[in-house]
Amino acid sequence: MRRLLLCAPRFYGVEYEINPWMKLSRRPDLACALRQWEALRQALTRLGATIELLEPQQGLPDLVFTANGALVRGEEAILSRFRHLERQGEEPLFRRWFAAKGFRLLTLPQDIAFEGEGDALFWGGDLIAAYGFRSHIRSHRLISEIWSIPVVSLALVDQRFYHLDTCFCPLDEHRALYYPPAFDAYSLAALRGLGKELIALDEADAVAFACNAVVLGKDVLMQPCSRRLEEKLRQRGFRLHLLPLGEYLKAGGSAKCLGLYLDNPVF
Ligand code: ARG
Repeated sequence: MRRLLLCAPRFYGVEYEINPWMKLSRRPDLACALRQWEALRQALTRLGATIELLEPQQGLPDLVFTANGALVRGEEAILSRFRHLERQGEEPLFRRWFAAKGFRLLTLPQDIAFEGEGDALFWGGDLIAAYGFRSHIRSHRLISEIWSIPVVSLALVDQRFYHLDTCFCPLDEHRALYYPPAFDAYSLAALRGLGKELIALDEADAVAFACNAVVLGKDVLMQPCSRRLEEKLRQRGFRLHLLPLGEYLKAGGSAKCLGLYLDNPVF
């Protein structure tokens, strides 16, 4: 079963605006955020996932979104370089955590932004990676060289979907959810050219962050979505676990960004 890194939302908040969801005038309720995160943690544990915890730190309100801290493959972790100064203080904490756990640390050149699993998701043997808002396109080529793996680079064009994991979600080796208008035409052609099944979301599900789901085998954890999407997933044998995570939407995140997969296999 899967192993994930989470960080308790003790110091979570919206203290700056670096994506269109974040509004200083619409801050999350911390007590409610804690309850929502706790419910997610319990659901993951109940479904058999192993949870590792990163120590929260005051002054780093987005540290809860651990998906952005690194990208793990086997025993190696490529550490992130955040695009925004507001999140760069998280980098040494992820570095320390991965080093203490015995991962081999890999870094990209200083000037190349890369936001970890937020912008790069394994789909079978391919790494699907996005650029446009956060990660630099050059990070894709570097990762492809470091690990000798094929990387499919996609351009994000709608700033509401500024990270790949807000508009694309691999369900298994052959299937994924996606929100087509988040990508440019060339990227859509590249994605469709892989010849796998892509399940398109409508805008209502996309803005409810239905793509931002944690997948544990046949179990899918996400924000409540439409009946239509529930049905599509059920027909394909997936079990849905719908968790309200509205306090995190206020920062532009949901279930998936609250966790980082620590056990991505080496194909
Ligand atoms: N407020 C955070 C940011 O803008 C949210 C990150 C959400 N993470 C994600 N993987 N989509 O960086």
